[in-house]
Amino acid sequence: MHFSHQTLGQRVRFATGSAPQAVREEVEQLGASRVMLIASARESAGAGPIADELPVVLRYDEVVMHVPVAVAERARAAAVAYDVDVIVSVGGGSTVGLAKAVALTSGLPIVAVPTTYAGSEATDVWGLTENGVKTTGTDARVLPRAVVYDAALTLSLPLDLSVASGLNALAHCVDALWAPRADPINAATAAEGIRALADGLPQIVQDPQALPGREQTLYGAYLSAVAFASAGSGLHHKICHVLGGKYDLPHAPTHAVVLPHVLALNAPAAPQAAERIARALGSSTALDGLLDLRRRLAAPQALSEYGFTEDQIPAAVEAVLAVVPASNPAPVTAAVLQQLLHDAWEGHEPSPPDDQRTREETLMRRVLASFEETPDPRLRQLMYSLVRHAHGFLRDVRLTEPEWKQGIDFLTAVGHLTDERRQEFILLSDTLGVSMQTITINQVAAPTATEATVFGPFFVEDSPRIDLGGDAAGGAPGRPCWVEGSVTGTDGQPVPGARIEVWEADEDGLYDVQYDDGRTSARAHLFSDAEGGFRFWAITPTPYPIPHDGPVGEMLAATGRSPMRASHLHFMVSAEGRHTLVTHIFVKGDELLRTDSVFGVKESLVKDFHEQPAGTPTPDGRDPGGAWSRVRFDIVLAPETDR
Ligand code: BEZ
Ligand code: FE
Repeated sequence: MHFSHQTLGQRVRFATGSAPQAVREEVEQLGASRVMLIASARESAGAGPIADELPVVLRYDEVVMHVPVAVAERARAAAVAYDVDVIVSVGGGSTVGLAKAVALTSGLPIVAVPTTYAGSEATDVWGLTENGVKTTGTDARVLPRAVVYDAALTLSLPLDLSVASGLNALAHCVDALWAPRADPINAATAAEGIRALADGLPQIVQDPQALPGREQTLYGAYLSAVAFASAGSGLHHKICHVLGGKYDLPHAPTHAVVLPHVLALNAPAAPQAAERIARALGSSTALDGLLDLRRRLAAPQALSEYGFTEDQIPAAVEAVLAVVPASNPAPVTAAVLQQLLHDAWEGHEPSPPDDQRTREETLMRRVLASFEETPDPRLRQLMYSLVRHAHGFLRDVRLTEPEWKQGIDFLTAVGHLTDERRQEFILLSDTLGVSMQTITINQVAAPTATEATVFGPFFVEDSPRIDLGGDAAGGAPGRPCWVEGSVTGTDGQPVPGARIEVWEADEDGLYDVQYDDGRTSARAHLFSDAEGGFRFWAITPTPYPIPHDGPVGEMLAATGRSPMRASHLHFMVSAEGRHTLVTHIFVKGDELLRTDSVFGVKESLVKDFHEQPAGTPTPDGRDPGGAWSRVRFDIVLAPETDR
């Protein structure tokens, strides 16, 4: 084993509820007697009891984010004017930042009392801004000599800030595992930091006022700062630095959003680090553990929420590329960063890492290649596209093995139910809109022709022939309906002798093939007359459910869909030299028109079924025995095509 590790000299005290005494002891230990107490106005409540125990000669509250040089200069002058011999800072990163700025030029010792999880008290890093430009550096003089951690002082930190800054600390730990000076000591520190933060943060979310969660988080935050100070900035911090500096994105949420993406990228290339993170998070993989934690904390997920825009991604990629640490375990290319920032911008869960993506693509290509020699070019095209889409689906949803098994079981059940009488596969195709899509694709390009719709499973060959004006109902229960119309071509010419097949469900929602006794009813065929006209009696269509006692029914139920079809009467019309038309007519006003379970409704097929009260004379003088209805359907057939 060969490595060298620099430790920083600092006394650290955890003293929940007793910061005032602990700080007094630290100040005494330093032999100091003239205290400059830095605390912003917001921190004055927590700072009061501490000040009460100390020989304070100067209370200073001009604390500004990022420590502007002018602010630092004023504080330095005040420290000189009051001849202070120690600085006590009570506050977050900006407060200790100001103390460090004073120490940088004066060498005064600092006793830091953090009230957030920023961790800056445990590093020798200073930062100053001038004209919007931030300068940072390291200097032994700015490292606080002592830190007093009192979790009670963090109770007032709002929940969202607690979570964001806790995740920021977590990012320090994770990034420390592959930062430029990563070594076994800071790795051990980082792993313990991850464990403590993953333990503490959910407790804070559950009860922001409970001390144990605050203590664990504060402890984790300290460890994270120590690990980070020792290991240096990894890829994650470089990315966040660019985003914060160039686009003014807020520090802590940016960390929370970006970290899982960097972890997803690096984990496969740094298996030991990943294993360590997973163990510290108590999860099977590092990424799962982090995503789960992020969900439990309801932490930010998308940079878009913080004003970062998609068109800023390319320039951000360039800026990050220039500062990628050589120590990063996974290769970082522009394409990798583009994907990473895009996912982070959109709030997607991280894309699979590069080599995972490569494995998946390689497999798909091998499958495609296996169809290369298919002699029939159309079959080859179909297989290629099927493989591409099927693999695309699997990769898109990240299909799990149990889900795969469930899918296979489902299709097996569909197959088992299918025989000459029951076609569950077609039902599946229908309910997924696959049948209707196929019909839509194949709709002949004849805008004036009558539109087609689904065939359905209930057509039967050799239906009874009826004459014009005959009765297709065949005794099926239902209100009689007079159907009349014409068959013409798209050329406007009448089509005599067209074969018109009609079939429908009875008013109980059953087709004759669903009866037990084998009788035939509510289906027939007839031929158009010399002028292309037709007329016949049928029954007024009523709604009915598609068969839903099988796996397709289960699918509909599981997805909250109804099996009901809008009321309809089926037609199949064929004639010499014409494209055969398979269609239905629907009943205007039916509430189910919009939710038809097989997506069969087309506006042009919705017809007025005029209600006729009992006693209204019928066109052919028949007595329908009560109320009846009538409808007109003029059919236009397209010419036959080669298809
Ligand atoms: C039908 O209208 O007969 C039907 C269409 C698709 C699925 C089930 C039934
Ligand atoms: Fe039907």
